[in-house]
Amino acid sequence: MEKTLVIIKPCALQRALTGEVIKRFEQKGLRLAGIKMMQLDDRILREHYAHLAERPFFQRIKDSMMITPVIVTCWEGKDAVKVVRAMTGSTNGRDAVPGTIRGDFSLSVQENIIHTSDSVETAAVELARFFSDDEIFAYNYQSLPFLYANDEI
Ligand code: CDP
Ligand code: MG
Repeated sequence: MEKTLVIIKPCALQRALTGEVIKRFEQKGLRLAGIKMMQLDDRILREHYAHLAERPFFQRIKDSMMITPVIVTCWEGKDAVKVVRAMTGSTNGRDAVPGTIRGDFSLSVQENIIHTSDSVETAAVELARFFSDDEIFAYNYQSLPFLYANDEI
C-alpha cells in the first residue's frame, strides 16, 4: 500500500505536540511503518528543500529545522499521500482550516508543526532520503479488515 513521509518539526517537539500528531494519524487508521529521531543538517535540508533554495528565507527555514532534532515517520494506507496532506492543512497555519493539524496548532508559515510529502513520486524520494530500507517495517496490521472493505485493499 502507499507510503508517505511525515516529519515532526522542532516547533512541535518544543510545544510537546509529538504525541498529538502521531495520535491523529493512528486514529485515522494509517499504519506506522517507520519512526526515528534525527538531527538534520545543512546537507540534507538543502536537498529536501531544494525547491526553496533561491528564496530569501531559505536560511531561516534551515535554521528552524536544525534547532532541535526532528522525528521522522513513515505512514502507510490506501491513498496515504493524499490523506496525510489533507490532514496537514495549508502551509501557512493562519490560513489552514481548523480540524487540520496546522489549522489546529499553528499560527505561522514556518513553524507549521509538520512536513508531509506532496505527491506519490515525492514521497518515494523523500522516504529514501530519511530512511534506509531496514528502517521501514512491514508487519501484519490486524485492523485492516475493519478499516477497509475487501475490494478497497
Ligand atoms: O510544507 P509545505 O509543503 O506545505 O510547503 P512548501 O512550499 O513545500 O514549503 C516548505 C516549508 O518551507 C514550509 O512548510 C515552511 O516551513 C517553509 N516556508 C516558509 O517558511 N515560508 C514560505 N513562504 C514558504 C515555505
Ligand atoms: Mg512541500
